[in-house]
Amino acid sequence: MDQYDYIIVGSGIAGLYTALLAQGQGSVLILTKGGIGECSSRHAQGGIAAAIGIGDSPQIHYEDTIAAGAGLCDLDAVRILVDEAPDRITDLINFGVHFDTVDGEVALAREAAHSVPRILHAGGDATGEHIEITLSRLAMLAKVVILEYCLATEIIVDDGVVRGVRALDSRTGTVEEFRSRAVILATGGGGRLFNFTTNPDIATADGVALAYDAGAEITDMEFFQFHPTALRLPGVTPFLISEAVRGEGGILRNADGRQFMYDYAPEGELAPRDVVARGILAEMKKTGSDRVFLDVTHLPPRRVTTRFPHIYRFCLVNGLDITESPIPVAPAAHYMMGGVKTNAWGETSIEGLFACGETASTGVHGANRLASNSLLEVVVFAKRILEGKKEGVKPPDASEREHFSLSEQEGQNALENVPRLSLLALQSLMWDKVGIVRSGEDLAEAASILASWQKAVDKPSDRPFHEFANLILAGRLMAEAALIRKESRGAHFRSDFPQPSPDWLKHIIFRKPD
Ligand code: FAD
Ligand code: SIN
Repeated sequence: MDQYDYIIVGSGIAGLYTALLAQGQGSVLILTKGGIGECSSRHAQGGIAAAIGIGDSPQIHYEDTIAAGAGLCDLDAVRILVDEAPDRITDLINFGVHFDTVDGEVALAREAAHSVPRILHAGGDATGEHIEITLSRLAMLAKVVILEYCLATEIIVDDGVVRGVRALDSRTGTVEEFRSRAVILATGGGGRLFNFTTNPDIATADGVALAYDAGAEITDMEFFQFHPTALRLPGVTPFLISEAVRGEGGILRNADGRQFMYDYAPEGELAPRDVVARGILAEMKKTGSDRVFLDVTHLPPRRVTTRFPHIYRFCLVNGLDITESPIPVAPAAHYMMGGVKTNAWGETSIEGLFACGETASTGVHGANRLASNSLLEVVVFAKRILEGKKEGVKPPDASEREHFSLSEQEGQNALENVPRLSLLALQSLMWDKVGIVRSGEDLAEAASILASWQKAVDKPSDRPFHEFANLILAGRLMAEAALIRKESRGAHFRSDFPQPSPDWLKHIIFRKPD
């Protein structure tokens, strides 16, 4: 049995950045379930937000973040995020990340719901790839042990304290135990809960399932962000068309060619993501189409090809020249705001268990994430995990908080009355009933089906089945949280409760009963 000072689960930006900082404090193991580069981080396009421009300030960034979060941001966490952002950008530059420049100054782009241009990017629209490759090269050169194709299947907890991780080597089928007093979950999001998603295959909410099973608090699962513009071409994956495209002047038109976003919001194309996603959905319904169009044909072609080389090439390979034809788009599942509840030092409610990146819920996003704040959240809070550990910060006391449990509806449905269990059935159920527009009736049906499926799943033994079981559990947490929250707020929209309610200015926290 191997012993490390730090075990980090995941090799996206959260895992790699944490590992690079931790190696100065002890021995580090990264477990990652695929190849080192398989992660959402690598696909990030728009960039990373930080108030470094003229006319910007951490205070304006703070106000924009809070406005997007629709009343549920943790104000202290947001203050940390915006204040520490410029220093973390400097750290990334010192690690070797080259952000794009104009006339020798860092170029700053505009994205929806940011009141000023504040998004740093690299390689035009390949920011994630640039950061991820830079950090993974450094990690491979550093004193960090990296085990690829190793799926964490259980967090070992003894007497309320973390002792390590059990993991499955998916190439040999062997299960191994790794011991440590600090386990950092950096497992990313859960977009694979839905059949239309911008996320890669690894995004199966494993961190949420692992932490829940270990007894940690899981919060805000009802808040899942749908990106308004993913490519909608037959037979082509719903590849992201960055919000920065609208930031550069891209226009959304319905199937009849009419610009429509000003019918829904005074900010037009640059309204918050949830507003744009619902606007698109309404137009799709009105015109009887499964798509709308994002039009950049009025922009100078060279500006499009140099600012968005990755998007331009991807579309071209799939038969679409975006400088000449509007891009067919539709919303897709994009970002999990909820997750493993942490404090400002990345600590969960279990001693020795930390979470960082998309799997964590630090409180900075509230009910809706401001674009490009997630890469920033990763680096700001990863750093604090290591600083907190050095200073020996006390773990948070969860005993005072109200906790919800998953409902006791297992077995209520006879299995013959429930759709046949498959990944596609799960993803379709989540999209149809727990998607952009929800209702009590749909959510109750989804929650009940998911509970029956969970009961029917055998103990998983291989990677696909572990991931499937994790998705079912995360889906249940999402459906039940959405059912409990009888209002609309941020990314959570209920047609039967279309307004926000002051009674719901609070968080839903799940914890597995003892
Ligand atoms: P990931 O990068 O997803 O890494 C998770 C890692 O954990 C992977 O290595 C995975 O294999 C591993 N893993 C998972 N489960 C297990 C397990 N059980 N055992 C072992 N390993 C496991 N955000 C921005 O701020 N700006 C953007 O421009 C932006 N663009 C985006 C574009 C796209 C297409 C997508 C999908 C997301 C975008 N985001 C953006 C969001 C942002 O990229 C992610 O939130 C962020 O990269 C998450 O980083 P992470 O390290 O937490 O997770
Ligand atoms: C995008 O480029 O539109 C994605 C930005 C983000 O998700 O933060």
